[in-house]
Amino acid sequence: MEHMIAYVQRLWPHQPRMVLILGSGLGDIAARMLTDPVVIPYAHIPSFPQTTVLGHAGEWVCGHWHGVPVVLLRGRVHMYEGYAPDTVTVPLRLARALGAQTLIQTNAAGAINTSFAVGDLMLITDHINAMGRNPLVGNNEDALGPRFPDMSNAYSKRLRVMAQQAAAHCACPLRQGVYVGVLGPSFETPAEIRMLRAWGADAVGMSTVPETIAAVHAGMDVLGISCVSNMAAGILDQPLTHEEVMEAGE
Ligand code: HPA
Repeated sequence: MEHMIAYVQRLWPHQPRMVLILGSGLGDIAARMLTDPVVIPYAHIPSFPQTTVLGHAGEWVCGHWHGVPVVLLRGRVHMYEGYAPDTVTVPLRLARALGAQTLIQTNAAGAINTSFAVGDLMLITDHINAMGRNPLVGNNEDALGPRFPDMSNAYSKRLRVMAQQAAAHCACPLRQGVYVGVLGPSFETPAEIRMLRAWGADAVGMSTVPETIAAVHAGMDVLGISCVSNMAAGILDQPLTHEEVMEAGE
């Protein structure tokens, strides 16, 4: 981690207050958000995990957003790419080590809740970890956080209220619900979607959960927003494709 910290600090000598992870199809807003962006390809950062999925650019973008020093992650790595759970959380941990206290996550997700529609935004109120993996397995780094972190307010109530106020302010409809993280990479079967609905999930995706767990462990405040890219398997009588997910994000 030390060599990554040194590399990024040499190119951008600021302390980010916040890290924002841009999910599938959402990376393009990065360039428009910051006044003075410094773009660092993931490939240039020593030992940094590389994205392999179409639509995940793989860039560490730092700069100021309304005067606040932030880091935007254009593209994330997933466990379905073959990365270990603790590797998936390296970008988040680097941002934390540089000073970020708040994590904002975005993702593309399939709607399990049938009252949702493609293009809806869903504020994540809570998550279900159905990935079968946890990034905190193994030796606990006591300096980073506790062995058994509390997850009862994983998605900060304070930030959720702020997000709802901001959505109301700009008349942007914002749904709310529970995000279930699955390992992927195959989409779910209709039977799995019925099960996930019975569990209380409103949207399903293949990311976000590991980063939230690592962030909560490290004492960060987390806000998560899903963009509904498709209705989950079996809801409509049509097959699911990655292209559809990308299109909705854009
Ligand atoms: N299932 C799982 N992950 C997803 C989906 C889905 O339907 N849509 C976008 N990511």
